[in-house]
Amino acid sequence: MKKQDRQLRVGILGCGPIAQFAHFESCVKARNAALYAICDAAPDLAARMGATYEPEKTYLDYDEMLADPAVEAVIIATADTFHVPMSIRALEAGKHVLCEKPVGLNVEEVETLAAVVERSGKVLQIGHMKRFDPGIEAAKQFIDEEMGARLGLKAWYCDSTHRYTMTDAVQPLPILSKAAVKPAGNPKADLRRYYMLAHGSHLVDLARHLCGEIEWVRARLLERFGAYCWFVETGFADGTLGHLDLTVAVRMDWHEGFQLYGENGSVIAKTYNPWYYKSSDVEIFREKTATYERPFLPPPARRFCRCHSRWRADARRRCRRRAGLGQGDGGHRTLGRDRRAHRRRRDHGCSLMRAGIFAKTFAGSDPLTVLSRVAAAGFACVQYNFACSGLPPMPDAVPDDVLQAIDKTRKATGV
Ligand SMILES: NC(=O)c1ccc[n+]([C@@H]2O[C@H](COP(=O)([O-])OP(=O)(O)OC[C@H]3O[C@@H](n4cnc5c(N)ncnc54)[C@H](O)[C@@H]3O)[C@@H](O)[C@H]2O)c1
Repeated sequence: MKKQDRQLRVGILGCGPIAQFAHFESCVKARNAALYAICDAAPDLAARMGATYEPEKTYLDYDEMLADPAVEAVIIATADTFHVPMSIRALEAGKHVLCEKPVGLNVEEVETLAAVVERSGKVLQIGHMKRFDPGIEAAKQFIDEEMGARLGLKAWYCDSTHRYTMTDAVQPLPILSKAAVKPAGNPKADLRRYYMLAHGSHLVDLARHLCGEIEWVRARLLERFGAYCWFVETGFADGTLGHLDLTVAVRMDWHEGFQLYGENGSVIAKTYNPWYYKSSDVEIFREKTATYERPFLPPPARRFCRCHSRWRADARRRCRRRAGLGQGDGGHRTLGRDRRAHRRRRDHGCSLMRAGIFAKTFAGSDPLTVLSRVAAAGFACVQYNFACSGLPPMPDAVPDDVLQAIDKTRKATGV
């Protein structure tokens, strides 16, 4: 992509996984932005990311980055706890902000942030990149321009027990540091709260994006076999009824999408895990022609790139500068990355393991049963699910005796 002459100079706070998977690359590629500065309190991480992405400045101290007058806008890519305080400091230093989701931890701190945004006159955007999925954009356009009155929305966001098996096959390993700044306490200690913030924020944002403000909710939660299922009835300000389903984790592939019924038609959408870089599949039914339309959407849809571009466009507009962004900005450059990831996997000899994963699932309630079945079927590697050791599939901690039992069986079976 040809860079525009005028580029917004961006500073990224945090060099952790989300910066590595989404923000550095999007900033480097976007035609109207420059990765001017990066900042992380972990010196090793800052140095490695500095060497890789070559920003003009690398900071270890956030205040120093904010004091740099060349930084026009800041991306907050730190843990949830820090979102509001770090955003406020950036806004008060006169920078535009793109902050990772969730915007904050509670209503009170988010209202404080809203007041600071208002006072500062700067743009704050939250990293809800699903809004910039071309499939969702096509649905939104139909909803706004043709659907007429809305009747009912059903939307679901169901994380999968097999999520990491699948994403490990497409994502490079993040570079981590022991010196990384982490929030005090374990954010996953309260999983109800953690899932609602980490996953629920995407679901609620999409519902509001499609149907407007939510006026009331009535929610039920069932916890069973380590899974959480929230069914949330909602009433939107325009009278539309909603049913939001947040389930973590379903025993199936990643399951996300929505159905919306309206006066002049309906929309059905299936959304993929973001790391597949794939637009949502969207089907629009028009009542007047009694036909379905499936908009053609260019495959590598980098929602993060598009999210950045829109934010920058808003920031630039707010600065009374020319925005000039096309809809497709940043949306077509994953092939190189995919090929690199593929090469890395091939060089590490992972293709055999992937074949095993996709070929078969081996049931069992203890390591010996599962690994014996794997060995008997002739596989050398398997992705082990902790549910087979009586733990949740994505446990926060794995007791030593469980690990030792798996390791012992691994050696005994040769898997
Ligand atoms: N949009 C999405 O779909 C999506 C996906 C994944 C993660 N996220 C969000 O991204 C955020 C970050 O996730 P992560 O896994 O990269 O976090 P992380 O905690 O692993 O990394 C954050 C980095 O910021 C640095 N940092 C924190 N405070 C700092 C300070 N005051 N000064 C300098 N450096 C500081 C840390 O040293 C660390 O390296 C989370 O809020 C998460 O919810 C969003």
